[in-house]
Amino acid sequence: MSLRARTAILISGRGSNMAALLAAAADPAYPAEIVLVLANRADAAGLARAAEAGIPTAVVESRPFGKDRAAFEAAMSAELARHGVTLIALAGFMRVLTEGFTGAWEGRMLNIHPSLLPAFPGLDTHARALAAGVRLHGCSVHLVTPGVDEGPILAQAAVPVLAGDDEATLAARVLAEEHRLYPAALAWMAAGQVSLRDGRAVVAAAPAPTATALRNPGC
Ligand code: GRF
Repeated sequence: MSLRARTAILISGRGSNMAALLAAAADPAYPAEIVLVLANRADAAGLARAAEAGIPTAVVESRPFGKDRAAFEAAMSAELARHGVTLIALAGFMRVLTEGFTGAWEGRMLNIHPSLLPAFPGLDTHARALAAGVRLHGCSVHLVTPGVDEGPILAQAAVPVLAGDDEATLAARVLAEEHRLYPAALAWMAAGQVSLRDGRAVVAAAPAPTATALRNPGC
């Protein structure tokens, strides 16, 4: 019997972070096994990528549920249960989740966000970073709590904002870091190395960051 954490990746779009997680999990030694890619839109491009990789996929369309988020989540929960999922990685999943759902998955659901939280929660993070004139930008992996983009931070990676950057160039630089950071953070979670202390995430086996490192693995 497999001891790897049975993980679902939830997507709404292209799924490049999903692809990074699938690539990491293709190694049998990786502590998470991706048992399901679940999308809330049938046209999510990531679904085809997951199917190509031989990963089971499912679609629970959110639109027909309208404002009834609890009913939508109940339908998702049925899929998650059917696949025996114990860990969730949100990867570009564009629906706000209710307290009921986040509570049920407390400590077992991660998200990746394209900013150095708590700066720039929400949408359009790269445009807002450029408008604010920050010199460092980046991405964060955090545990999901009811407040959007507010949960305990597990790991962050920073990139410089360069003269002449526009939204696209900055987004691409951040995305390359997302693809490195998320597989590392999910591995810690799946291996049971993450605990919460005073509302903060502590990673047991994370290497200490060096003075020059821009990637802080959450110690
Ligand atoms: C990423 O920038 C992620 O941080 C954010 O949504 C985007 C999803 O991109 N939550 P992809 O679908 O993983 O390519």
